[in-house]
Amino acid sequence: MNDDYVFINEVGPRDGLQNQKTIMSAPARLELIKKLIDANFPGIEVASFVSPKAVPAMEGAGEIMHGLNENKECEISVLVPNLKGFELARDAGAKIISVVPSATETMNQKNINMGLEAAINSSCDILKETKSIKLKARGYVAVAWECPFEGKVDKKIILKIAEKLLLAGADEIILADTIGAANPSSVGSLIKDCVNEFGQDILSVHFHDTRAMALANVCAALTEGIRKFDSCIGGLGGCPFAPGAAGNLATEDLANMLYQMGFVTNVHLEKLPKIVDFCETQLNTSLGGRMTAWLSN
Ligand code: COA
Ligand code: ZN
Repeated sequence: MNDDYVFINEVGPRDGLQNQKTIMSAPARLELIKKLIDANFPGIEVASFVSPKAVPAMEGAGEIMHGLNENKECEISVLVPNLKGFELARDAGAKIISVVPSATETMNQKNINMGLEAAINSSCDILKETKSIKLKARGYVAVAWECPFEGKVDKKIILKIAEKLLLAGADEIILADTIGAANPSSVGSLIKDCVNEFGQDILSVHFHDTRAMALANVCAALTEGIRKFDSCIGGLGGCPFAPGAAGNLATEDLANMLYQMGFVTNVHLEKLPKIVDFCETQLNTSLGGRMTAWLSN
């Protein structure tokens, strides 16, 4: 891979929308996804196959998959919390499956109603199933730096979970700072260890901007060789089960910073403010990364 190329995986339609006060209907989410495809994102997480009782905003994942034509250019992924979610996603034609164990006992309990060991085992089972039918498998490790319930997370636990997910078939590991508690030092430190252990090519990161350090954290990750990031259009985001999780790193801020640093993303920056406008209208709230107003001009 070209060292100057950075892959932006847009997770607005899933992580961005799962916890909004106003629910965006499945047809509106489909319209959003089509706008994101048109803006040339190389990857989009479009939905999660979760219980609609647990996350009402994600209802209609099947409808979304049905409405998307096969797209060779864009990697369309979905998140699944358990085997039932995997089966629903597979039957809906998903080609890229993400599992999301958390690094602590309590976060797994709150998020997917399983303990740590059960969550890792279940994730590994899903990854094996995913690979057995030749789909692409992504393994998130949520609360990789800090848990809202148990505090700072030991790096050794992250390395162990990542190793298990990779052995089960994960094509990629995504370290997620679910509550936005990481800083450039802790990011550099964990990523250095993960790169030493697994290499940089299979690693990706997911930052929230709760404490205004997401872009600084991206720089720390870039320094360690990471070239793949999740972000959310308009800085949407938050986890319903992780208290204090604020918006994700805003895609327009990430894309613009990378552009100005000389990296190539192939994302059409000029199309992003209109997509932020669309989300604002749909959600009846004001959104936007720091760059939105400037990009609009
Ligand atoms: N999709 C849809 N429905 C599901 C489901 C899935 N993946 N998994 C379980 N269900 C349904 C069951 O069929 C059952 O339905 P019923 O009450 O009509 O019989 C009900 O949910 C309870 O099933 P159970 O297996 O006991 O699940 P649970 O209550 O332990 O809940 C999860 C587990 C994972 C389904 C639920 O906690 C969840 O969806 N969490 C979402 C986590 C999330 O999205 N977090 C943010 C992203 S990290
Ligand atoms: Zn997140």
